[in-house]
This record gives sequence, C-alpha cells and structure tokens, in this order.
Amino acid sequence: MSILVTGGAGYIGSHTALELLNAGYDVIILDNLCNSKTESVKRVEEITGKKAKFIEADIRDREALDRVFAQNSIDAVIHFAGLKSVPESWQKPLDYYENNISGTVTLCKAMQAAGCKKIVFSSSATVYGAENESPLREDMPTGKTTNPYGTTKLYIEKILQDTYEADKEWSVCLLRYFNPIGAHESGRIGEDPRGIPNNLMPYIMRVVVGKLPELTIYGNDFNTPDGTGVRDYIHVVDLALGHIKAVEKVLGETGCNIYNLGTGIGYSVLDIKAGVEKAIGRPLPFKFGPRRAGDIDTCFSDPSKAKAELGWEAKRDLDKMCEDTVRWQLGNPDGYGD
Ligand code: NAD
Ligand code: UD1
Repeated sequence: MSILVTGGAGYIGSHTALELLNAGYDVIILDNLCNSKTESVKRVEEITGKKAKFIEADIRDREALDRVFAQNSIDAVIHFAGLKSVPESWQKPLDYYENNISGTVTLCKAMQAAGCKKIVFSSSATVYGAENESPLREDMPTGKTTNPYGTTKLYIEKILQDTYEADKEWSVCLLRYFNPIGAHESGRIGEDPRGIPNNLMPYIMRVVVGKLPELTIYGNDFNTPDGTGVRDYIHVVDLALGHIKAVEKVLGETGCNIYNLGTGIGYSVLDIKAGVEKAIGRPLPFKFGPRRAGDIDTCFSDPSKAKAELGWEAKRDLDKMCEDTVRWQLGNPDGYGD
C-alpha cells in the first residue's frame, strides 16, 4: 500500500512517515519545504533503513498534484501540509486561508480526479474553541475558534465532511491533535521551529541549549491546581502511531469520522518545567509574566473514542516526552542546521 504524506518533511509528518515505513507502507512525501528541510527525510530513511520518495511541490499546484497521482499508485493521503503559527495567522490571514484551505481544496480535487478518495487530515483541538469544558469530546460543538489558524482547521473539517456527504465513496478521518511534544527516541528527528518559538516545549528547549535566557510562564492566576495553564501534551510518536490506525481505518471502509488524539491527562506549565528539569538534571531559569491573549485555563481530551474505534491509545508518559525532547535538542542544538 502506498501513502502520500503531504507536509511529510515537517515535525509530525516526519515521525508519521517513519512509522508508516516501519509498518511496511510505501511512502511518498510531498512538501514545499516552507517550514522544513529534506534532512528530516534523510534521517527517517537512515533510522528505518528504508527509502521514502520525496517530491518538492506545493499542494496548491494542481498540475504538480496531477503528475504525482498519474505517476504513482496512491492508496490514501495523510494531509499534514499547512501553516500553523497562531500569531502569524493574525498578521497574514489571507496567506493562511489560501495555503491551508485553498491548498486542501486543490488536493481533494486532484484526489477526486485520480479516484483516490481516502484522506486523514491534521485537525486540532483548537476547533473546540474556548467555551467547551474539558474533557473535550468529539460530539461537542465547534465553531467558536479564536484565531485565523484555528478557523482554517474548522473550515477544512467542514469541507471534508461536505465532500463525504456529496460522495459516499470518500473515506475521511479528521484527527484533532492536542499538544504534540517529544521526539523519536533515536534523537535523530524532532521539532525544528524557525525563529523564536511560540509553543511551550520548543521555547523551553531554546532555554535548555542556552539560546534564550529564561522561560516566561504566561500567567499564574488561572483556575487550575497550580495557577498555570493546563494542556494535554502527547508524545509525537504516539500521535504518529494514531495515524497508522487512522490510515488503516480509511483504507478499510468509507465514512467520515472524527477522533481526538490526546492522552486525556492535563499537565500544567509547571509540570512540564519540572519534567524537563528532571531530564536535564538542573533547574530551568524562569519567571512569571502576564497571561498571553486568548489562552484558556484548561484543555484536555476525552480520548476514549479513538481507543474504542481505532484501537489506539497514547502510551508514552510525561517523563518519556521530556527525555526524548531533551535528547533530540541536546544532540541537535541547531535543529537540522542550515
Ligand atoms: P510543520 O510546519 O513542521 O509541518 C508542516 C509541513 O507542511 C512543513 O514541512 C511545510 O513545509 C509543509 N507545507 C506547508 N504548506 C505547504 C504547501 N502549501 N504545500 C506543501 N507543503 C506545505 O508542522 P507540524 O507541527 O508537523 O504540523 C503538521 C500539521 O498538523 C499541520 O497541518 C498543523 O496545523 C497540524 N497541527 C499541528 C499541531 C502542533 O502543535 N504541532 C497541533 C494541531 C495540529
Ligand atoms: C497553541 C495555540 C493553538 C494551537 C497549539 C498547537 C494559542 C492561543 N493557541 O495552543 O491554537 O493549536 O498552540 O500549535 O496560541 N506557555 C508559556 N510560556 C511560553 C509558551 C507557552 O507559559 O513561552 C504556556 C501557555 O500559556 C499554555 C501552555 O504553555 O498554557 C501551552 O502553550 P502552547 O504550547 O503555545 O500551546 P496552546 O496554548 O495549547
């Protein structure tokens, strides 16, 4: 079976490509490298001892997509390609709507024309907005997203649902990720963000390698046990393995299904700081600062639907998430380099 992985050179895509190769799938990675480097693909090949086909192309380029489908027999698509920065999405909403939404529409039209109607899509817990109470369940209302990035995920979910309603030959799996952290335990692939990271773990890692002086914890007056924000951090390898189960689902049956991919456990910012301190064996410099606009107290999943229907659950605990992230970052202080 051959799987097209859009955005497969990126953080989650590279870990998923690795698990697909390990599971015996043929992997074709399509990425425009706007937020990644081919080094990640080389390392996936090095770790697995298997080859992945790499195509540098943009999901908005219909002709390129048509060529990919004409030249390869593709059984299903895992669609990671997208822009993902919340603050950048406020500055450049049109770029986000064009890249993420138009890109997905172009991809689906190329899939439809090629008769490949099986897709697993990277959605996000951000579609639950700020008003639902955790644990978040797939049947809770969505719609009140708080930033343009989140709105792209919401609209793409709707577009894929409508596509299935119009043509029941489609098989769609919408995966709502919680907070992916961690790295492959080889320490050879991991998250390599550009510039100053917005997300907690990449920011902490810059402090660990001495590139930033200290962590600023955004608020200590939230309605949580220790006053700092609580999130459902999930090891990226568990997340990748969830995609293997989802791809089996879309290959096996038609339908349109939504699954949370989280652990169901909420950890605070101070818990994450303590986990990293345990992994590095020293205290992490930090200070408390004001809340970040738009941040909520608590966000964690009810992961029971994925367990019941996909036979998947997260297995890696917080210590493992921190150890693996630290191994990757200390072994690669400049990420994949220039
Ligand atoms: P990433 O930026 O590392 O990977 C995305 C990849 O897509 C990159 O390699 C980038 O070069 C590529 N890409 C972007 N636009 C493209 C285009 N038009 N054509 C071809 N390739 C394109 O991000 P990630 O963390 O691996 O996230 C993967 C997906 O999961 C994204 O859709 C993201 O929105 C979603 N997601 C991520 C998180 C998270 O916290 N990391 C949480 C929820 C959802
Ligand atoms: C953020 C996005 C969300 C996106 C997700 C994954 C916002 C408002 N939300 O979620 O839409 O889907 O990333 O990309 O941007 N924190 C600090 N100091 C830091 C960084 C973060 O204290 O330097 C805290 C935050 O206040 C939060 C927690 O750490 O409590 C996690 O933050 P982050 O990693 O940015 O993820 P989310 O806020 O959950």
